Amino acid sequence: MLRGHLHPTRSSVEAIEVPNALWRSPKPFLSGSSICLRLSRHSRPAPTQCRLSASRLSVVTRASFSTATTNPFHDELIATAKYISQRGRGILASDESNVTTGKRLATVGVDNTETNRRDWREVLYTAPGLGQYISGCIMFEETLYQSTADGVPFVKFLKDAGIVPGIKVDTGLQVLPGTDGETTTQGLDNLPARVQEYYKQGARFAKWRAVIKIGTPGTPSSMAVLENVHGLARYAQICQEGGLVPIVEPEVTLGPGDYSIEENAYWSEHVYSHVMRLLNEYNVLLEGILLKPNMCLPGLDVPTPPPAEVAKYTVRTMLRSIPAAVPGIHFLSGGMSEEESTLNLQALQDECPNAPWSLTFSYGRALQSTTLKTWAGQPENKQKAQDILVKLAKANSDAQLGQYKGPHPVPGGQRILQALRTGGAGKA
Ligand code: 13P
Repeated sequence: MLRGHLHPTRSSVEAIEVPNALWRSPKPFLSGSSICLRLSRHSRPAPTQCRLSASRLSVVTRASFSTATTNPFHDELIATAKYISQRGRGILASDESNVTTGKRLATVGVDNTETNRRDWREVLYTAPGLGQYISGCIMFEETLYQSTADGVPFVKFLKDAGIVPGIKVDTGLQVLPGTDGETTTQGLDNLPARVQEYYKQGARFAKWRAVIKIGTPGTPSSMAVLENVHGLARYAQICQEGGLVPIVEPEVTLGPGDYSIEENAYWSEHVYSHVMRLLNEYNVLLEGILLKPNMCLPGLDVPTPPPAEVAKYTVRTMLRSIPAAVPGIHFLSGGMSEEESTLNLQALQDECPNAPWSLTFSYGRALQSTTLKTWAGQPENKQKAQDILVKLAKANSDAQLGQYKGPHPVPGGQRILQALRTGGAGKA
């Protein structure tokens, strides 16, 4: 039993927040001027009885009804999220900003022009048979309004292939003052209006990436965690109001250092638990979101762990923090090599064959890296590049189904690290 004083004006109490933990009690009750609850969750430490002073308790109240049930897009959101997270399919993340796309094109000697960016996306989106393995595609704003060289809007092309068009709606990262390079994600200000426009243009889901840095003393700071989970919750709420399924992406990012996989798992669980709590506070419909987290990995100075170890920690983290109401957990590749991304995805199914959510992928680098090198801006390489993209998508589709046997289309590759992505502040 946990006991503390209740502010007299607070009468509708749903939960009590205890510092450093997230304990919810289904039935907190009043006893004189005290509020009482039974701890419902085992935690570290796991006291069954304790007493806290009122100053260490904060009472959480909720609106008396859920806005989700009054949202005209309620059923559509659920249907869209269910479609994208169906078994055997995943997301192609191709929402790199123009700056990041330019960096990647430069690696194969292609200039960063609007036409070249369009040509590159056309290689990806028009790959024959892609829709068998890919159910959703995240685009950057410029691409959402572009068409193939033959004049077919990308949105139409994707829909005809059974791929739901999505849009990255955050506008990049900003360093938080006074931190060791920790960031927040920008883009809330005009988001409701943009969501309406994107919906009109045919997008049906959205993405917002929040980055949590670990591995250096003092990170993640509680300020960075609070700031980022708040942003994700507001973003998700706004998207659902406008009919877009929000991909909620709290990325505990793979970075330098010798921190252990256990440490990554600890912080991932901490962050995802906060994310889910805030989504709950903001009345976000859980059946109408998709989660896009990292797999649990140690710092880059630690040898790459075997897939079974990654799966053990990753599944444990998800089971502890993500409600079964969320239909799909679409992992990012986050710097893993192409083969590593597939093997780890397969290992997740081995670890948790009856998972309540679809454990699947939303890969950017792990689908695009070799595809880009193969294309290299040369029209005569287009078919070969598309062939490798579809083989990579199929390998990950097989892994999602727990049926991946190999050999991998890009065996034994290296990690695909941040050099090819806009790091720190700026547009991701
Ligand atoms: P990676 O798979 O390259 O990590 O990209 C996925 C993504 O969209 C990250 O925001």
